[in-house]
Parts: sequence; C-alpha cells; structure tokens
Amino acid sequence: MGRRALRKIEPSLDLSDHLRTLDELPQPFHANLHFGRVLPLEVEVGSGKGLFIQNAAQANPQRCYLGIEVMRKYARFCAARLARHDIQNALMIQGDGLRLLHEYLGDETVAAVHVYFPDPWWKQRHKKRRVMNKQLLADVQRVLIPGGQLHFWTDVAEYYKTSIDLIATETALIGPLLVQERPTTGDLDYQTHFERRTRLHAQAVYRAEFRRPETVVARS
Ligand SMILES: C[S@@+](CC[C@H](N)C(=O)[O-])C[C@H]1O[C@@H](n2cnc3c(N)ncnc32)[C@H](O)[C@@H]1O
Repeated sequence: MGRRALRKIEPSLDLSDHLRTLDELPQPFHANLHFGRVLPLEVEVGSGKGLFIQNAAQANPQRCYLGIEVMRKYARFCAARLARHDIQNALMIQGDGLRLLHEYLGDETVAAVHVYFPDPWWKQRHKKRRVMNKQLLADVQRVLIPGGQLHFWTDVAEYYKTSIDLIATETALIGPLLVQERPTTGDLDYQTHFERRTRLHAQAVYRAEFRRPETVVARS
C-alpha cells in the first residue's frame, strides 16, 4: 500500500505555535514551560499525517502532546492540523524520535509513549533502522512515570512479535495488556491513518499496551 499525496497547506496558516525542529527545543525539554501549565505529557513517535495527535489533544485537554515526525512535509502537515483547529496542548517536532527521547526527555517525565505503525523495514539488512529497538525501549522505560504506558500497534505480525520479545528481554514493562479493537462511526475516528487504511483493507492490526511498574531495577 503506497501513501497518498498530501493535501497542500494553506499559505496563510501560521505554524509558529505548533512546529519546531528538534534542534530548536530546549534541552532538557520541560512540557510545563512550553505549554505554560503542568499537564501530563504524552509523546507520539512517527506521527505521519497527525490524526492521533489531533484527536488525542482535542479529547484530552488536561494532557499535553508532543508528536515527532522525521519527514519535514509530514511534520508540517501535522502542525497545520493543530494550527487549523487552534489546539493549544500539542506541538509537532520535526526530527528523529529516538533522539527526542534519548537527548531531550528527562527521567520519569512522560505519562505515555505512542508508536503506531512504525516503518517495518522489511529487508533483513534494513531491520536495524526500526524504531522499536533496544535504545528506544531503554529510553521509554526511563522517561515513563511509574504506571506510564507504552502503546505499540502495527500491521506486521513479525514486527509485533519481535518487538514484544524485545520488550520482554530488555525492559521491566508489564504487558502486553489486551487492547480491544474500537468500533468506528466515521472516517476520522480511527487511532491513526494507517489503522484506518489497514482496517479498510480488512487486514489485521496487532495492538499492545505496556505499563511501567512502580520501581524498575536496573539490569546489570
Ligand atoms: C508507516 S508511517 C505511520 C504513521 C502514523 N503513525 C500512522 O499510523 O498513520 C511511519 C511514520 O514514522 C515516521 N518515522 C520513521 N522513523 C522515524 C523516526 N526515527 N522519528 C520520527 N518519525 C519517524 C515516518 O516518516 C512515517 O511518517
């Protein structure tokens, strides 16, 4: 399944409140300074066209959201969605999600990390490019608050199993917990565009949720 061309962004739309490059972020990033309020922070790695970050931010005004997307045109597209709807509790970052977690987010500062339909990198020699890797998982465990969640969905059975195995060996996260498929009533109430596309093609979606325990014993 290829990706459809992106709609053009209206030239009059001001993205300055909703888009940063990773290098423009303060290090460490403090959500309360950016959003001006103390709110639980959720992070989405690989936001694509931004359906999740828009819907989640609108549905949960008492939380704040950072989406990170490596491709500039998609990061801008997501930021445009946020700007168009005047969403005040979400920010798009253009850059590498692995760097965001590793270099910018402090220990126990994130309530949830979302990774939906990450690129599968099918060829054996390319699999090292997958975002669900040891470094990301170590950082997810480090940045999550106790009880914080990792949400990981994919349409690739092999990527799902490999990631579940890696989470079990590399982290103390509890799971996978059962995630039910949600009924949808319209076109845009799927979790993400890739979930919509996968379900409309009657293909399986593999969903996992993990929780960080109260205490994590460092592995030797
Ligand atoms: C297959 S798409 C899924 C998009 C969206 N999550 C969805 O479910 O509709 C994967 C997205 O992750 C982005 N991506 C890949 N590696 C990334 C990284 N290291 N950091 C941030 N985004 C990344 C890609 O550019 C792409 O837009």
